[in-house]
Amino acid sequence: MRFSSLAVIGVAAFALAEKATLSKECPFDQVCYQLNIPNNTATTGKGDIFFQIHASTDYRWVGLGQGDTMRGANIFLIYQSANGKNVTLSPRYGVGNEEPLWDPRADVELLEGSGVKDGWMTANVRCGDCDRWAAGVMNFQSDSGDWIAAMRKDDPLMSDDLEESLQQHDESKSYEWPLNNAKGGDEANPFVAGAATTVTNSDSSSDSQGSKAWVMEHLPKIHGSLATLVFVILFPIGGILIRVANFRGGIWIHVGVQIVAWIAAIGVVASGIRLATTLKLFVRAHPIIGMVLAVLLIGQPVYGIIHHRMFKKMGQRTGWSYAHLTIGRAVIFGGMINGGLGIMLAGDADQKTVIGYSVIAGVLGILYIAAIIWGERRRKRTKMGATGFPPSEDQARLINRGDGQGLAEPQGQEMKPLWLGKERGHDRTSTEYAPLEAGEGYGEPSHSRSHSRAPSPTPSGRYSDRRSVSMDGRARISMT
Ligand SMILES: *[C@@H]1O[C@H](CO)[C@@H](O)[C@H](O)[C@H]1NC(C)=O
Ligand SMILES: *[C@@H]1O[C@H](CO)[C@@H](O)[C@H](O)[C@H]1NC(C)=O
Repeated sequence: MRFSSLAVIGVAAFALAEKATLSKECPFDQVCYQLNIPNNTATTGKGDIFFQIHASTDYRWVGLGQGDTMRGANIFLIYQSANGKNVTLSPRYGVGNEEPLWDPRADVELLEGSGVKDGWMTANVRCGDCDRWAAGVMNFQSDSGDWIAAMRKDDPLMSDDLEESLQQHDESKSYEWPLNNAKGGDEANPFVAGAATTVTNSDSSSDSQGSKAWVMEHLPKIHGSLATLVFVILFPIGGILIRVANFRGGIWIHVGVQIVAWIAAIGVVASGIRLATTLKLFVRAHPIIGMVLAVLLIGQPVYGIIHHRMFKKMGQRTGWSYAHLTIGRAVIFGGMINGGLGIMLAGDADQKTVIGYSVIAGVLGILYIAAIIWGERRRKRTKMGATGFPPSEDQARLINRGDGQGLAEPQGQEMKPLWLGKERGHDRTSTEYAPLEAGEGYGEPSHSRSHSRAPSPTPSGRYSDRRSVSMDGRARISMT
């Protein structure tokens, strides 16, 4: 292959005075592009270039563009004309992954030899201003240039409308075209018989479609799926768990889920940065919000640990608690909204993706809000005491200093005092604890309540073996 390519170049160089050189790339099955940069354009960097798009009529449309991504690219689309005998050439400029817009000012022309024949579409094109377009330039004096290719396999469009709306491409690729192979010849249609010698860049084209094309093709989906898993599913579930998992060790489930999500978030940030740099998207809302969320997340595990330690020590929420809670909530709601912005930015999401994301984000968002409200109300209620009366100073101390975990904090080993007797007007200050469970009611099964309601129980009743009162009056319960 290489040898024959070299041989062709050698022959081409020998015959350069008369013949143009065509460089050929075939990035998709039954789709090939050829390019010629006339000697004058290659020398001065300005002037006409010629290219051909040649594709099977199995394709609805085929596109060729200058640039390394769809965004900002100078794009040429072809599709079958209304009568099916020729092709329609529609110059467009790329605006992200949305449909490229018709560019009425492009200096392009369909040449002799274009048409639809024997199941093939051919567009021979002269472009007079391809060295410079709205969002980019291409230096034809240099050895190579960035190009993109895209296509959709479907029924033919059959349209003469230059602004014809297209469906999303099936596949797109970006590659470097070695322009050196395309240089030479006069500024005349090189696609008429015998006017040119063709060099097929078979080796280079398969190499050069490498990483950039892969990024374009797969990374958005990986980034979006992972981000949804982390910000819309895992973080909210971890946040809900800390409010509702009131069993021993519940806090460790919260810690486990959030640590897994936090580590996965590193992948979300890394893939996001890669996408933003490749697609030059740093000045859009989605990546900016994403970076803010990433910065907020950095210290979150540490705030959580300090909050927990301080809570055990002080028996109440501290600044660390509010930092941990506020950042957690901001990141979850911000992440959910930013996911929507990301889908909009990608621009090519199908309806299933949009609906699926909205449903997942909606359901988990509502559950999360419900868990916050429920948790905060219960916290308040616990603080006020089961009777609804503000607790006495003694009781408050018990609530706040309970078992280290603190009664006021709706967390794992949380306890709830039962001011028995008081509720019934008994003069009883003995405080019973029961693990607080999800839902109303006290954690202890009904026998505890019936026991406690027994008339004039002794303070050293059935539960005294499980409670020890330390010197400072702190009540302890061993939770079994
Ligand atoms: C190419 O163009 C340059 C200047 O435009 C000229 O000097 C040179 O002879 C040309 N070469 C060929 C092979 O036509
Ligand atoms: C297609 O259109 C181009 C430009 O008008 C013309 O040169 C060419 O001959 C046409 N092809 C056919 C098959 O009519």
